Amino acid sequence: MSTPQNAASNLITPGGAFTVTEAPYSKPGPGEVVIKNAAIAVNPMDWKIQAFGANFPIPKKYPAIIGADVAGEIYEVGEGVTRFKKGDRVIGKANWFLTARPQDGGFQHYTVTNCNIVSHLPASIPSKSGCVLPLALCTAAMGLYPSARLALPLPQPTKPKSANKVVLIWGGSSSTGSAAIQLAVASGVTVVATASSKNHGFVRGLGASAVLDYHDDKIIANLVETIKGAGGQFAGALDAIGEEQTWRACAEVVKALGGGKVVSNLPMAFKDVPEGVEVLPVNDTSTIIHHKESVEGVWSRFVFEALKAGTLKAVPEPIVVGKGLEKVGEAVELCKNGISAGKVVVEI
Ligand SMILES: NC(=O)c1ccc[n+]([C@@H]2O[C@H](COP(=O)([O-])OP(=O)(O)OC[C@H]3O[C@@H](n4cnc5c(N)ncnc54)[C@H](OP(=O)(O)O)[C@@H]3O)[C@@H](O)[C@H]2O)c1
Repeated sequence: MSTPQNAASNLITPGGAFTVTEAPYSKPGPGEVVIKNAAIAVNPMDWKIQAFGANFPIPKKYPAIIGADVAGEIYEVGEGVTRFKKGDRVIGKANWFLTARPQDGGFQHYTVTNCNIVSHLPASIPSKSGCVLPLALCTAAMGLYPSARLALPLPQPTKPKSANKVVLIWGGSSSTGSAAIQLAVASGVTVVATASSKNHGFVRGLGASAVLDYHDDKIIANLVETIKGAGGQFAGALDAIGEEQTWRACAEVVKALGGGKVVSNLPMAFKDVPEGVEVLPVNDTSTIIHHKESVEGVWSRFVFEALKAGTLKAVPEPIVVGKGLEKVGEAVELCKNGISAGKVVVEI
């Protein structure tokens, strides 16, 4: 097989512009695959890296190829990979964040990644939709499943057994929140969520039993009442937004319900936490590949079957900025400006 021509949208310097350059093609190592990307999604981390430049802890080295979400076709498989073959349509999480290798970034034609964070994509789902899922699924899974976090039962693609538990998902219309709702519902857990009123239909459609508007002055008291009335043991809260005000709001709800855990997307240490509440950061999303139970329970046994069954939807809706790596800078800017129940995508 001749070596394909690769190109990437690089950050050449901290805080600089995304610039398209040639990039080396890297062969997959043992347990890895190369995905020929058809679509990539942009995440808030991407604009934060560009906006905060040298003040952001990653990447450690520039030029850097970032980007966490890809969809396309398997181009090559590494030693020991049996689940995939060349030409399979897939989605995958690009793990540059963990490995710091340029071949592991998403913003290029050919991305190398670990086969355990890759799933087949049903023919009915276009790449531009599928690419919205990988990082959101990993982040949500790392909040919901590890025993030190919310410790929910692993998800079932169809007919989950009731876990007799209730969870609060703060930010249900976000990428992470919409993945978390779908995973929790597939775990047999009742979901109470927050979102702006205009997104309540979307969030209910993902299986949340109740959705409350977080702009409401009485949101804390209303959530407490709703969770009490939902039936089942309270399993804790997932703050999918990861801001000071959102983890604090979750902590207030948890305290009012007698104490417990808040798992937050904010990867930092938390100060002045209310008594009886434990707030835990999801600061290790990329390490899901080392959490055998979660990675197998979600990526190997759930994602493809649930996408086929329609119990996992490729949401939020892709907002396609255009086609070509040259569009990455514009896409990152759009994400920075803020989006509601959507995910910025570039077709490649
Ligand atoms: N720790 C990690 O590993 C990790 C991984 C991924 C993301 N993150 C972080 O998690 C955050 C969310 O990422 P994302 O990609 O899921 O975001 P996103 O989809 O871009 O978030 C947009 C959504 O956030 C909702 N929102 C904004 N402020 C809110 C608030 N105060 N309360 C409730 N909902 C609110 C909006 O809901 P409405 O339009 O309905 O108001 C909107 O739909 C970002 O800060 C990101 O950097 C962390």
